[in-house]
Amino acid sequence: AKTHYHDFVVQATPVKRLCKTHNAITVNGMYPGPTLEVNNGDTLVVNVVNRARYNVTIHWHGVRQIRTGWADGPDFVTQCPIRPGGSYTYRFTIQGQEGTLWWHAHSSWLRATVYGALIIRPKEGESYPFPKPKRETSLLLGEWWDANPVDVVRQATRTGAAPNVSDAYTINGQPGDLYNCSSKETITVPVDSGETNLLRVVNSALNQQLFFKVANHKLTVVGADASYVKPFTTSVLMLGPGQTTDVLITADQPPARYYIAARAYASAQGAPFDNTTTTAILEYESAGCPAKCVVKPVMPAMPAFNDTATATAFTTRFRSPRRVPVPNNIDHNLFFTVGLGLNNCPPGARPRNCQGPNGTRFAASMNNVSFVLPSNFSLLQAHQQGIPGVFTTDFPANPPVQFDYTGNVSRSLWQPVRGTKVYKLKYGETVQLVLQGTSIFTAENHPIHLHGFDFYIIAEGFGNFNPSRDTAKFNLVDPPLRNTASLPVGGWTVIRFVADNPGVWLLHCHLDVHITWGLAMAFLVENGVGELQTLEPPPADLPVC
Ligand code: C2O
Repeated sequence: AKTHYHDFVVQATPVKRLCKTHNAITVNGMYPGPTLEVNNGDTLVVNVVNRARYNVTIHWHGVRQIRTGWADGPDFVTQCPIRPGGSYTYRFTIQGQEGTLWWHAHSSWLRATVYGALIIRPKEGESYPFPKPKRETSLLLGEWWDANPVDVVRQATRTGAAPNVSDAYTINGQPGDLYNCSSKETITVPVDSGETNLLRVVNSALNQQLFFKVANHKLTVVGADASYVKPFTTSVLMLGPGQTTDVLITADQPPARYYIAARAYASAQGAPFDNTTTTAILEYESAGCPAKCVVKPVMPAMPAFNDTATATAFTTRFRSPRRVPVPNNIDHNLFFTVGLGLNNCPPGARPRNCQGPNGTRFAASMNNVSFVLPSNFSLLQAHQQGIPGVFTTDFPANPPVQFDYTGNVSRSLWQPVRGTKVYKLKYGETVQLVLQGTSIFTAENHPIHLHGFDFYIIAEGFGNFNPSRDTAKFNLVDPPLRNTASLPVGGWTVIRFVADNPGVWLLHCHLDVHITWGLAMAFLVENGVGELQTLEPPPADLPVC
């Protein structure tokens, strides 16, 4: 196994999109940032230097970080932020994961422009469990704002109302030629007739689930979230922010240009979203473009923004390649509601800061707790050093009241309490977690991401989870292993994992506006017995608050 050394300089860089230039926060002046390529078993050492005006941290999304929780990255959870002028070296080893992950800033909304791909190939000397692709291309789906994303989040936090929607979706940082001032820079993916290539698709958008298609071509899904899956063929993908999907594509169409397109899957009815389409171009080399390409690329028919049937038909097809060891004797049977809510405005607040219905402000919660980050210590530091008063360990295993989660309820029943609450697990304990979406304010999808673990998604469905009916649907044979689950709109998802990684691990919705409103909690996993079950000591350069 190798060790890879990288320097990441976080800095403001002028970026021009949609005819306008503004300073975006980038890594090494690149948007998206550098692609990291490693083999399973390798170690990464990334020295992050902060030359921007904002606090920053980097999260290695989906990397298990076994015993290296100090390198996970969410600010105030596993570390204090890297201050302007500061630096911190992330050091971790890829253990048993293969496929595509990514990295992104985990501080305010900086991940809008601070992100990149993390490609994990099989161990040296080993091969993919599918025929070796001729070429490999990473396609990072993102969002672009004309305004500075930090200002957009500031507005979202102040008014408590939804932020302005983004001005474009992007593929590898480019909106594509359906947008103004963007056609020259449209990303081109070259292919040759007959070859089979690997596309590594990442949803790095801030607040939007996305459909993805390639005109006239079938996609064979072979992996997701750096785990292989039982291959299946589809014409459309749906990814929630945080999710990755690896697909094989065979160039079996007449030589020409075909659009690669992504567009919103916006399940929240009535909420504002960008309904434009971002494109790249799959270009057959033998077509002789650009000289001989007079006709426009073929455009795929995209699903409607609210096409939940297509989204669900896709997400429920995932299986592990073979029988997997799903935890069976469950130590913690948890039920978390996931949804929006409304808080009364704090006394004395200005009306413009409270723009929810009837002078309220939007909040989001799990089990009615709206998560508040600490400010003087990270949760991990407070846990490891036994610093009292930073968090409490009373995150509830069940919602405080039960009702019809998919119905319209009076908001008096459901006003989140704010708190920094964690749920404690002993090393090696098994967890079943039912995530139940609510429709307190509006029903929505929530891409739920767990740090520090992969989990099995053993079932999902619509309506209220009903144990006596729905346990019959549990797949305990070959469920997929993921780090981010798309909780369906007005429905539920059941996941299982083993708490075999000591540390403090965030569970949150990967729509950034929902994190801003508090849709998060953390698991605290205690050390087990012996060195291999114990969190490593903190690095000497760990930033302090
Ligand atoms: Cu990809 Cu907590 O994040």
